[in-house]
Amino acid sequence: MPEEVCTFLLEGNPRLVVDCTLGLGGHSRLILEKSAGVRLLGLDLDEDNLRIAGQRLAGYGDRVVLRQANFADLSAVLREVGWGPVGAILADLGVSSNQIEDAARGLSFDRDGPLDMRLDRTQTLTAADLVNGLSEGELADLLYMQSQEHGSRKISKRICQARRQGRLDSTVALARLVASALGQDPDARRSRIHPATRTFMALRMSVNRELQSLRRLLEQAPDCLSAGGRLAIISFHSGEDRIVKEDFRARAQSGVYRLLTKKPAVASEVECAANPRSRSAKLRVAERVGAVA
Ligand SMILES: C[S@@+](CC[C@H](N)C(=O)[O-])C[C@H]1O[C@@H](n2cnc3c(N)ncnc32)[C@H](O)[C@@H]1O
Repeated sequence: MPEEVCTFLLEGNPRLVVDCTLGLGGHSRLILEKSAGVRLLGLDLDEDNLRIAGQRLAGYGDRVVLRQANFADLSAVLREVGWGPVGAILADLGVSSNQIEDAARGLSFDRDGPLDMRLDRTQTLTAADLVNGLSEGELADLLYMQSQEHGSRKISKRICQARRQGRLDSTVALARLVASALGQDPDARRSRIHPATRTFMALRMSVNRELQSLRRLLEQAPDCLSAGGRLAIISFHSGEDRIVKEDFRARAQSGVYRLLTKKPAVASEVECAANPRSRSAKLRVAERVGAVA
């Protein structure tokens, strides 16, 4: 999908582009490569990814400005760097594979690590705080609301029972508990998808306030875009995609956006084979109509 994203974003020859989710800089590098006139502001919550991307993009010199920031604060960051409305904004939501593979981050049920899940390690709240601190009802609601986990009540009940024996602090211990709460053998995976997938996703989304940040980005985006500027969002979860779809539709009806993807674009079979994570990716793009006051 990176090529498709670039085509959408660069069609109007933007001078200023914001990559709200820099990650390891893959999309940013492509954008900088394809459009020599572009200056790019890259944001990420994760200082490690920001540092790695900074090294990878060093060759582009002062065409690149990087900030450790939440895209929920996009308007403030643009003011801080002295940029007015921009020609393109990209948000490739979620986490990068190196973050999942780093056991110390606690994002993977396959690698044992602390129940941390913070993208911004300067924040204090961790997944362990939620797992050990919420009531049974609050945990069940979190699992259901964030990732539509249908076994939320069974899982939260089992977590609260286990907590009586001591704190739950490890990813693998939680994954095993979730599997057994859902009636599955923790040692034998029945399908490609681990039974703890939705639980981990819900905790991660909650720790990092992912849906709240997405809503704040969508609220600010129209004022951050110049006329004809484009906003591209790649989501990996139906809850996120619904928020983007509804925001774009409502603003299209009120004349703020023109929708460039009536239905979300999805990754090709070739890309899915090379990168299985892209199977659930959905790209929506909107164009700002009219001038910003
Ligand atoms: C899917 S990866 C992006 C990959 C990137 N497009 C690339 O080509 O390498 C998502 C990145 O966004 C960051 N992130 C997630 N939520 C964020 C937020 N609210 N504000 C800023 N960065 C965020 C994550 O730390 C992660 O590095």
